[in-house]
Amino acid sequence: MKLKNNNIRRIAVFTSGGDAPGMNAAIRSVVRTASYHDLHVFGVYRGYEGMIDGHIERLDKGDVGNIIQRGGTVLKTARSDRFRTPEGRKSAYDSLVANDIEGLVAIGGNGTFTGAKIFFEEYGIPIVGIPGTIDNDLYGTDYSIGFDTAVNTAIEAVDRIRDTADSHNRLFFVEVMGRDTGFIALNTGIGSGAGAILIPEAMTSVETLIRHLEKTAKRQKLFSLIIVAEGNGSGNAQKLAGEIKDRFPDYDPKVTIIGHMQRGGAPSALDRLIASRMGFKAVEALLEGHTNVMIGIQNNKMAMVSFDDAINKHKDIDLDLLRMAEILSL
Ligand code: F6P
Repeated sequence: MKLKNNNIRRIAVFTSGGDAPGMNAAIRSVVRTASYHDLHVFGVYRGYEGMIDGHIERLDKGDVGNIIQRGGTVLKTARSDRFRTPEGRKSAYDSLVANDIEGLVAIGGNGTFTGAKIFFEEYGIPIVGIPGTIDNDLYGTDYSIGFDTAVNTAIEAVDRIRDTADSHNRLFFVEVMGRDTGFIALNTGIGSGAGAILIPEAMTSVETLIRHLEKTAKRQKLFSLIIVAEGNGSGNAQKLAGEIKDRFPDYDPKVTIIGHMQRGGAPSALDRLIASRMGFKAVEALLEGHTNVMIGIQNNKMAMVSFDDAINKHKDIDLDLLRMAEILSL
């Protein structure tokens, strides 16, 4: 959506939902771009929670120095139940008014933009979003900030597990994050040369998995690494390992859940780059009068997608890649 009269002079930036490596690079980019345009920039701490509590501070160009390489978010983050209530949103609005804030840059995922959309409808404060989630599940962008780093972290972990799996001829189930999507699992599985990849978007039964393992065993492959997305439909890593053990008591399948390791660490080159580009574009979009849009990257070009689409449209996973991974593992 584009507003007609736009004369924004004071904006605020915040991070919300799960943190993602590269969020700091986005904050830096927003603050530096806004300063370039002579805007006053504020940081809201702990996402919508801090907005409700009035935890808002002025940010200068120098305040965002030396953060591009750091994981996490210097503005902190939170998942806010209070912002789901009209009272919470009213308090948040009052805090913004108290600081004369006229525009917002929201860095986060689905929940962040759902809140932002409602907030704009109620109070009319222009909001532009930047996709920051390791899950990479937002429609309208090829990448969200943090995804590439999370995949790199997971691959590094799987490489290490591979060494011990190989030494002991063991079967390992490695569970990665992704909520109800399999983007992290698919990319981790391909990049680590896994024996099988189980994701929510493709229902793989235990029988199919067993048949696949039998095929790979034919070429004297004595160990196997199975990557399981946490939201996998036929079960998580623990459940699948249990079922294999029940069926083949001679097997001693091991389970590793990489967990929040995937959320931390220095952002990859790609994450720093897209975060910088998205932060820059977000401020310019606000100045051009855009609101209720998420900045995206499509085919390496900057794009804008409505919050409605980003939240509600389904981002398809490329199942051809799953087929390819299966062939490469045989
Ligand atoms: O959305 C990012 C994510 O890391 C998901 O992959 C995961 O399911 C979830 O957040 C975990 O959330 P929390 O850190 O609140 O436990």
